[in-house]
Amino acid sequence: MRTATRGARRDEGLGEDSTDVTRRVVYARAPRHLHVQLEIVSPLRDARFGALLDAAFQRAERESRLARELARSYPDFDAGLSLLATDGGEPLGCALFVPRTIRLRGAWVRVAIAAPIGVHPMARRRGVGRFLLQTGLGALKDRGLRGAVVIGASEFYGAFGFESAFNAYVQRVPVHALPTEGDTSSWRGLAERDLAGLPELHARCLAEVDGCERRHAAAIEWESAAPGSYTVVAERAGALEAALRFRVRADVELSECVVAGPAGVDLVLRFLRRLAREHARGRVDTHLPPSHPVARELFRRGAVNETNRLGGAARLAVVDWPGLYTDTAESWLAALERSRVDAVSLGLGGVDHELAREGTRLRVAARRNARSHLAVPPGWSAGLVTGQLDHADLAFAHGADAGLARAFFPGGTPQWSYAPVFEIADE
Ligand SMILES: CC(C)(COP(=O)(O)OP(=O)(O)OC[C@H]1O[C@@H](n2cnc3c(N)ncnc32)[C@H](O)[C@@H]1OP(=O)(O)O)[C@@H](O)C(=O)NCCC(=O)NCCS
Repeated sequence: MRTATRGARRDEGLGEDSTDVTRRVVYARAPRHLHVQLEIVSPLRDARFGALLDAAFQRAERESRLARELARSYPDFDAGLSLLATDGGEPLGCALFVPRTIRLRGAWVRVAIAAPIGVHPMARRRGVGRFLLQTGLGALKDRGLRGAVVIGASEFYGAFGFESAFNAYVQRVPVHALPTEGDTSSWRGLAERDLAGLPELHARCLAEVDGCERRHAAAIEWESAAPGSYTVVAERAGALEAALRFRVRADVELSECVVAGPAGVDLVLRFLRRLAREHARGRVDTHLPPSHPVARELFRRGAVNETNRLGGAARLAVVDWPGLYTDTAESWLAALERSRVDAVSLGLGGVDHELAREGTRLRVAARRNARSHLAVPPGWSAGLVTGQLDHADLAFAHGADAGLARAFFPGGTPQWSYAPVFEIADE
């Protein structure tokens, strides 16, 4: 039996139960009534992977192309996390786990996108999807990743600890709220030389936003491979001032944007005016978190700002709570400081962990603190960690200690975000 272990680079068999033989960890039990084998295969080199995704999603060259693009060019692609389930050589299902680093509680945290996962329509509801997902989640924890994020398929992911965690934001911008077009000649297509500066601009623009990804200086992180979607940049005196990604569907949509400063905001607004004119639209929709400088300016100019929680479909499952507490230690230490206690226990993820100040460090122990404990109801953990839910929900609906709740769960604007390459699989 072999495993989805760190650094696995070749096609390997995983055996019936997915087991790490070196550490004797069983990630998941194979469904009893099937002779399922798991293999690690490359979406680029093994045609079975893409064929199965096309069959599972019942459309050609969407999820399968996405998997190939990620395997070919995504810097953090982990070859040991693309799994194929077979029965007697017959492919039944496959799953891809894509490591990404996102901002949670003000810190960078390594998680993975647990998608796409597909099971052949003839093999459904027999536990193959469960086996693939549980194996992948076990392998993520082994690699030091703290959780997994997904969007959609709630009836499936909801059964495995994935909870609503991220929001979507829309600013509906009537053309008259935009400045006159003026000169937009500083805008041009994205070039290789722009990549070096974009990750830092992105992180700065979205500094307050949980869910924001840490991007690489790689084209796949900025360019959209989806038809009808474009990334453009604006330069002033040789320096990158702004970049944005837009697509024209029923409306002109700005799906992403970074700016270096107020001049960049102005350039973006004028370019939006030009897009509205060129595509004969009376309105532009932008999808930016409320703290983004462009969203702030649009709001000031009269745009309607909408927030929704994507119907609860954008989810997070934490696979390593102590690891997550450690990565986000600063935020918990600040909460202990604010609530003037040295230790508190939180019942997140169905397990009680005590968080205590030890000098300047955070000590995490799996136990309940008899004096200070915040109980979190099932289904709320991910939302409270990202800030989708906050202290007011907890204190109002569950009678939690309002002071403690306020210090530990201040709330936020966690945006569902993903790099342009994932648009390949968008509806
Ligand atoms: C989602 C998908 C991968 C599930 O695969 P599967 O092998 O049928 O799933 P399992 O049999 O392991 O189901 C595990 C659990 O998930 C839940 N579940 C799965 N499919 C479900 C459905 N259609 N309705 C309700 N619950 C469902 C159930 O709780 C199930 O446990 P149970 O059968 O004991 O009740 C498969 O339906 C598929 O390929 N769908 C199309 C592609 C897709 O949407 N992928 C997910 C997004 S990337």
